[in-house]
Amino acid sequence: MPVNSIHIPTYPYYINGDWLESRSGQTIDIYSPYLNEVIGKVQAITKDEVDEAIISARIAQRDWAIRPLQERAQYLYRWADELVASKDEIAATIMKEVGKTLKDAYKEVTRTAEFIQYTVEEALHMHGESMRGDSFPGCSKSKVAITDRVPLGVVLAISPFNYPVNLSAAKIAPALISGNTVIFKPATQGTISGLKMIEALHRSGLPKGLVNLVTGRGSEIGDYLVEHDSIDMISFTGGTSTGINIAKKSVMIPLVLELGGKDPGIVCEDANLFESAKQIISGAFSYSGQRCTAIKRVLAHENIADNLVQILKEETVNLSVGSPKDESMIVPLIDHQSADFVQGLIDDALEKGATLVTGNKRSKNLIYPTLLDNVTMDMDVAIEEPFGPVLPILRVKSDQEAIDIANQSEYGLQASVFTNDINRAFRISNNIEAGTVQINGRTERGPDHFPFIGIKKSGIGSQGIRRSIESMTREKVTVLNLAE
Ligand code: NAP
Ligand code: G3P
Repeated sequence: MPVNSIHIPTYPYYINGDWLESRSGQTIDIYSPYLNEVIGKVQAITKDEVDEAIISARIAQRDWAIRPLQERAQYLYRWADELVASKDEIAATIMKEVGKTLKDAYKEVTRTAEFIQYTVEEALHMHGESMRGDSFPGCSKSKVAITDRVPLGVVLAISPFNYPVNLSAAKIAPALISGNTVIFKPATQGTISGLKMIEALHRSGLPKGLVNLVTGRGSEIGDYLVEHDSIDMISFTGGTSTGINIAKKSVMIPLVLELGGKDPGIVCEDANLFESAKQIISGAFSYSGQRCTAIKRVLAHENIADNLVQILKEETVNLSVGSPKDESMIVPLIDHQSADFVQGLIDDALEKGATLVTGNKRSKNLIYPTLLDNVTMDMDVAIEEPFGPVLPILRVKSDQEAIDIANQSEYGLQASVFTNDINRAFRISNNIEAGTVQINGRTERGPDHFPFIGIKKSGIGSQGIRRSIESMTREKVTVLNLAE
């Protein structure tokens, strides 16, 4: 597929079943975050080419919407099989492009294939409902409402860099199975992995025009896509500032926005500190903290904080740091700009009096896992989403203080509560402003049939397989007015 120029492959974009080079003649270099070299070039397509993609999606949708569900299902099952069949190549691409360990990259591909299969099975068991008129006062039973779900039309699916395959298919599969067509805009740093996923879809024999891969910087074609009046729904996963921009620019269409987070880990004095620490370290530092659901602050009861910090320190200093090729827990961040941002948060906190427990060491875009104790709310690290391996610890006097600090955040994705008292756990959980509260477990999305919800600046709408299908369809009511 790619046209080689000496060593660096150039990748096409994909519309209406064709792999194309942009008439702009412009390409974007994709750097590997750990190889620090260009691993490929992707197309920077024009707005006209965006139009062509949307037109082909619009045309293809008319026929796709009336295809039997079972027929649609077969293409998605084949897609899942093709992904599994090419998992070695896709996983290797994910590692090179976004710096995830090979093990995590394989997990992402397998998780995606399972997600697609489950999405098909869920859709096969989603049925409408009927309602009789006579359950409402004064209305006869000759009035019957039949409610069914119908596709919205053309879905714009925009994904982030950190799950270039999984968080893309998590939009494309529910859109397709429910009769929509898709304009897929991957993160630039994730385009090659996204393209490999689409190659698998192409091999499934999916009819032309149903899924169209548009490549280019979001800063160049993003607004044009979002404001395009032939887009019927936007499913976006990414940063909060980008999400807010999309909410402001999109007009009168359904939106699902899965945005940033500042998930707290609340540790009560009766918690099992060793188990809690394990969950916190895994939650905070997996993939160097580049997860929206990463634990991004610890709120520890002051009378166990010293012990907890000691245990967290022991866990942290033993984390492997280095190349994803060596299955390191802490890997280089996606780019130098992100590493600068994380370093800035560490410097700000230390200037303002935080205690460095361990870390604050850096080599280019590799930031060593950093624990900061005695963090206070005037420090940026207490409120900002680092998307990197820095974990602030704030000491609290009571559950209520922990709840108040947790809810002060503009984010509301997830939270963890660590305690052995289930009543206490629910008391805290019921007062936390977040889409999900994990009791004695790390914050994470999934399993993928669970609802996944961000509130406040963490999002609008809900994901999770059934919720995603519902978000990409609408109810259509047909009322029978039968003869009396
Ligand atoms: P990002 O910078 O917001 O980019 C996300 C996507 O939006 C990319 O495809 C990007 O394209 C595109 N984009 C940029 N400007 C746009 C515009 N004006 N209109 C439309 N699309 C535009 O986020 P990221 O750095 O890839 O991902 C990290 C962020 O995503 C973190 O904040 C993280 O918390 C969040 N995230 C949230 C979830 C969740 O489920 N809640 C999951 C994963 C990540 P380019 O790459 O070309 O700029
Ligand atoms: O940031 C991606 C987000 O969706 C997290 O997924 O499975 O790592 O919790 P997970």
